[in-house]
Amino acid sequence: MEKDYIRAAFSKNEGEKVRLAGWVNTVASLGKLLFINLRDSSGLIQVVVKKDKINSVDFDEIKELGRESSILVEGEVRKDKRAPGGVEILAQKVTIASSSSKDFPIRKGVSSKVLGNYRHLSIRSRKFSKLLLIRSELLRLFRDWLIRNDFKEFSCPTLITAACEGGATLFELNYFGKKAYLTQSSQFYLEAGIFSLEKVFTLQPSFRAEKSKTRRHLTEFWHLEVEEAWCDLNGIINLEEDIVADVLKELDLKMGQEIRSINPNFSPPEKPFKKITYDEAIALLSREGIKVEWGSDLGADEEKALVNIVGGPVFVTHFPKKTRAFYHKPDPQRDEVVLSNDLLFPKVGEIIGGGERISDYNVLLKRIKEEGYSPKDYSWYLDLRKYGSVPHAGFGLGIERVLVYVLDLPNIKFAIPFPRTISRIYP
Ligand code: 4AD
Ligand code: MG
Repeated sequence: MEKDYIRAAFSKNEGEKVRLAGWVNTVASLGKLLFINLRDSSGLIQVVVKKDKINSVDFDEIKELGRESSILVEGEVRKDKRAPGGVEILAQKVTIASSSSKDFPIRKGVSSKVLGNYRHLSIRSRKFSKLLLIRSELLRLFRDWLIRNDFKEFSCPTLITAACEGGATLFELNYFGKKAYLTQSSQFYLEAGIFSLEKVFTLQPSFRAEKSKTRRHLTEFWHLEVEEAWCDLNGIINLEEDIVADVLKELDLKMGQEIRSINPNFSPPEKPFKKITYDEAIALLSREGIKVEWGSDLGADEEKALVNIVGGPVFVTHFPKKTRAFYHKPDPQRDEVVLSNDLLFPKVGEIIGGGERISDYNVLLKRIKEEGYSPKDYSWYLDLRKYGSVPHAGFGLGIERVLVYVLDLPNIKFAIPFPRTISRIYP
């Protein structure tokens, strides 16, 4: 098939002969004239079909086309102020590639449940196309940034045998008669990877059996995880700040117009971000009348309040040990807290969790036992501390959470083409 098609949103000159390929949005009939509103991945364009310029059998067929029918158009560009985009195509030939069934289920006013049930069709909307284009660009920019900064992409398994982030949110499955799980995080495998490549990352789904319905949790989300050898808490915080601030600035440069058509108030956050300890965080909250018992984790409401108090993105560090997974390194100055950090953002709260890892074999073994896990399940992970351990740190960033922030989405389910939540696994 020849592919010299021009996109709807590309600029065109008066009189130019063009070929377009796309999907019919609407066909309006005005006697011997048809106005087709044609959609492709770039946008919309008006195609005018004149009865006397085209075979009349074709004309009648085009007139009857249902929404989403796919067609190929050859024609001439005409400037017309009334047409959306200022130009229209006067068709000389229209070929119907596939006529759509007339009962396209997505119409104005359908409920959000119906839109969700037909997500495989609703992603064709202009708004979704833009959103998915922004998402695609965000993924590319994160990868590019890491590769530019000497990180290597390291692929990790999805099927695993032991929890990284606690047993409560593990999806269990039967692996040829043995228990296995869907990974909650690729961190442990990235930690193995640093001994081979030193600076590694992966961008792949993580799974959490989140049993509650919230606007910021998916059961399957895209997780950008980074791990670096010879790195400590400060080193990883600086890296998180650089990658997030740089990538959002680049995203704004590349996609600013599309972003603002969805969230008019977006502006990329400036570094440096504020940095406070957990202790400072609960003191700030307490001043606002929000009581957090020392040792409790911060929830979505506390995170939101903190971001408001600070007035922008904020790193919270040194969380109490009991609020964090066993692998976090205890602070040598104060054993009850760990060298961890969360990065909190407006609109969504935590977008990153990270920190320095325990690099000592005995300390790790003790923490595994304290948390009630079996050292046998973590035998290979312990090996990493047995054979030439190094200080190291890393983080995980939720791609959809970043998109909720950038686009001010009312719910995280809009940040991914096919969301998975407690109440949705279809389509
Ligand atoms: O804070 P989390 O649980 O940290 C980890 O998994 C570490 N092992 C990561 C690492 O250090 N390599 O998750 C990291 C980030 C969160 O900050 C959040 O952005 C996102 O992953 N996330 C979720 N996003 C959507 N839905 C969920 N259920 C999420 N759970 C975590
Ligand atoms: Mg976290």
